[in-house]
Amino acid sequence: MTVSVCTAEEVPQLVASAVGLFAEDGGRHDPSVDVGWPAREGESYYAALVEDPAVLCLLVPGGGGHLVGRLCRPNPLRPGVVTADLESLRVDTGHRRAGIGAELVAAFFAWAKENGATETKVKAFAANEGALEFYRAQGFEPFEVILRRTS
Ligand SMILES: CC(C)(COP(=O)(O)OP(=O)(O)OC[C@H]1O[C@@H](n2cnc3c(N)ncnc32)[C@H](O)[C@@H]1OP(=O)(O)O)[C@@H](O)C(=O)NCCC(=O)NCCS
Repeated sequence: MTVSVCTAEEVPQLVASAVGLFAEDGGRHDPSVDVGWPAREGESYYAALVEDPAVLCLLVPGGGGHLVGRLCRPNPLRPGVVTADLESLRVDTGHRRAGIGAELVAAFFAWAKENGATETKVKAFAANEGALEFYRAQGFEPFEVILRRTS
């Protein structure tokens, strides 16, 4: 399997994979997430991302998934640090545990390094145990923790 950079013509595939991610991840782990957002707004959002040199959009052939990565603006409180955020990642259910997620993340790491990143970060829901295991397997370690209280 070889992942590829998403072109403007392929944005509908990126949107379709984001629809799947919202339904499976956000929709399941945070009931306040608007799971209809990618179908409604995704076309223009992702069309802008594929043109942005600070963003990496990857696709798995045949609708097998996607990755979105983004270089963050410098933070004056952390001089010398350049962060690349792994913003969005999904592998289609029928293609899992075949190394595709790892291939997407390896391509993200290479892109981040080429673009001067000194660290990469990703956020995941605490209840998404499969994703947390996956990220640990790619070398990510817990760093910050978001605490929440609902009223
Ligand atoms: C997380 C996800 C991208 C992993 O993709 P994948 O292609 O199945 O991952 P890989 O096959 O490259 O897995 C590499 C290693 O990560 C670990 N891993 C992957 N999925 C795992 C799971 N569900 N549970 C435990 N470990 C897992 C394993 O160590 C695996 O190696 P192994 O299969 O030899 O044991 C995929 O499960 C997915 O799309 N999940 C739903 C969407 C999601 O949660 N996205 C992340 C949002 S933060």
